[in-house]
Amino acid sequence: MGKKLVIFGGSGGIGSALARRITLRGDQVHLVGRNAEKLSALASELNGGFAVADVTDRAQVEAAVLAAGAEIAGLAYAVGSITLKPFARLTDDDALRDYQLNALGAFRAIQAALPALKAGGDVASVLLFSSVAVSQGFPSHATIGMAKGAVEGLTLSLAAELAPRIRVNCIAPSLTKTPLAAALTSNEQMAAAIAGLHALQRLGDADDVAALAAFLLSPEASWMTGQIIGVDGGRSSLRAKG
Ligand SMILES: NC(=O)c1ccc[n+]([C@@H]2O[C@H](COP(=O)([O-])OP(=O)(O)OC[C@H]3O[C@@H](n4cnc5c(N)ncnc54)[C@H](OP(=O)(O)O)[C@@H]3O)[C@@H](O)[C@H]2O)c1
Repeated sequence: MGKKLVIFGGSGGIGSALARRITLRGDQVHLVGRNAEKLSALASELNGGFAVADVTDRAQVEAAVLAAGAEIAGLAYAVGSITLKPFARLTDDDALRDYQLNALGAFRAIQAALPALKAGGDVASVLLFSSVAVSQGFPSHATIGMAKGAVEGLTLSLAAELAPRIRVNCIAPSLTKTPLAAALTSNEQMAAAIAGLHALQRLGDADDVAALAAFLLSPEASWMTGQIIGVDGGRSSLRAKG
């Protein structure tokens, strides 16, 4: 039997693509999210497990991780938000919600999973998700930029603190076609305009991101930790041709 990996946001766009890849290579998934029906359908398709939890509730997060068992090989935290508003219209609630979902939820999930991540004989792996909006400044991204900046800080701090037993890495995607980004990607004109800002002239698919995620959560990445890697069509580092 393969190793067990916990995926917070396992029913989401990137989380479910990752779950499929992990299952295909023979490992087992334990999916976490709020919607029991979605989780149950995907878990039974993939022959995996699931637990219902809201990441804003510490007790639920702890119970969801415990349900995965005493030993896990890895954890991905693929929960997030996209709050786009001009700075003057952002509220404390926007800032707190983005921080809760993106940063504090990850903090709770990893803390809850530490004993199980340390229980195996092998080096375990943790994967977080930031955004291209940290390394590139975009208008109307203040609270999500703040929250994802915290995720990158968490990645580096934990990578140092938990080495050599646990590797911690982070993927920073640009706009990727998932339910989270639907408000932007479902408008064809807007999607085409944003795609044109990328050197590779398209938006991301969930599987573009899941491919690197699955690699980072595998022993093939055993000499990688503390890395924040863009899967972004070149958006973080290249100017698209006009
Ligand atoms: N898509 C993009 O363009 C993009 C760009 C940059 C970064 N990212 C990051 O990539 C990661 C994955 O995003 P995605 O696009 O795959 O998002 P998604 O399709 O919206 O999936 C999000 C997942 O998180 C779960 N979730 C949401 N709120 C939750 C809560 N309070 N408690 C527990 N689970 C919750 C959702 O399930 P339920 O709603 O059923 O609970 C769903 O499974 C996120 O960290 C996101 O910030 C995405």
